[in-house]
Amino acid sequence: MTDDPTFVRSAGQWEDADAPAGGSAGPDATFLADVLAGLAQTPKAIPARWFYDRRGSELFEEITALSEYYPTRVETELLARHCGDVGRIAGAGRAVVEFGSGSSVKTPHLLSCIDPAAYVPIDISGDFLRDSAAALARDFPGLPVLPVEANFMQPVPLPPAVAGTPKLGFFPGSTIGNLVPRSGVNLLRDMVATLGEGAMLLIGMDRVKDEATLVRAYADAAGVTAAFNLNLLHRINRELDGDIPVDAFRHRAVWNDTWSRIEMHLAAERDVAFSIGGRRFSLRAGETIHTENSHKYTPRSARQLLAAGGWTPLREWSDPDEMFALILAEARPEPVAP
Ligand code: TRP
Repeated sequence: MTDDPTFVRSAGQWEDADAPAGGSAGPDATFLADVLAGLAQTPKAIPARWFYDRRGSELFEEITALSEYYPTRVETELLARHCGDVGRIAGAGRAVVEFGSGSSVKTPHLLSCIDPAAYVPIDISGDFLRDSAAALARDFPGLPVLPVEANFMQPVPLPPAVAGTPKLGFFPGSTIGNLVPRSGVNLLRDMVATLGEGAMLLIGMDRVKDEATLVRAYADAAGVTAAFNLNLLHRINRELDGDIPVDAFRHRAVWNDTWSRIEMHLAAERDVAFSIGGRRFSLRAGETIHTENSHKYTPRSARQLLAAGGWTPLREWSDPDEMFALILAEARPEPVAP
């Protein structure tokens, strides 16, 4: 069994949130290259970061409010409940560095109880970043807010103003789970490099649980996640001159027990043929395009992933039903022995 190399590149999510909506500016060369390469391979797969055009970002916000989608709700509750503990362990005066801050909805909970020296949101989508940074600065007068527009899948140079300040990284949403383990480990190691020795990291990680609950979270009754997944095909048609018969595809969310992850696929319901940018592709009935992974963790597998990435867990919090976990970890030098 092999891991799926395509998703090694599914790295910087939200990358093109404000790409031109097709037409005037011409197709995005990276988007086109990713789609052509992904559909030429077996099994077919498209990197998840291309979900997030404007419509995709809106649908994603809707997903986080769905009753079936427990992660946002449970993680926000955990943050509100245990933030005082985080503050006591991390201590005052740290610069909070958020990776993929997006709309920064969860951030106020954290900032309000850790007495931070500064807030550094990192996001690839500049517009989004500036808006949410401005809103946060209004809510926390006196707190230096220093947004950095960057792809956090690489080490990110932080503003000189926080060079000498100890850091607390913040990586909520179980976004780590959207990466295959080797990419996740690379990211965690890059975070050590970005934040520096002695830094801490507060990370959200979704838990393994009964299959029905997991599948429901990614295949909601109202069909919002289906619309989110199918929007990728509409986007390809719009921006890359495609003629994919979108109505021939169905959203599918399946539990892959071997890799401990929910997979999202777009399944062809009948034999289909279409072209994208002049290239022909076909799928047999039942064949799928793999579009997203969401890995789920046991308490042990979560700790092992963090340790592999250079982070030593200090403390973890979960809800009574153990749906989701928040873990506070510390960057420690690699032990010499045993
Ligand atoms: N990281 C979250 C998760 O895996 C959010 C997310 C990313 C998501 N891509 C998604 C949720 C696609 C639903 C569908 O749950």
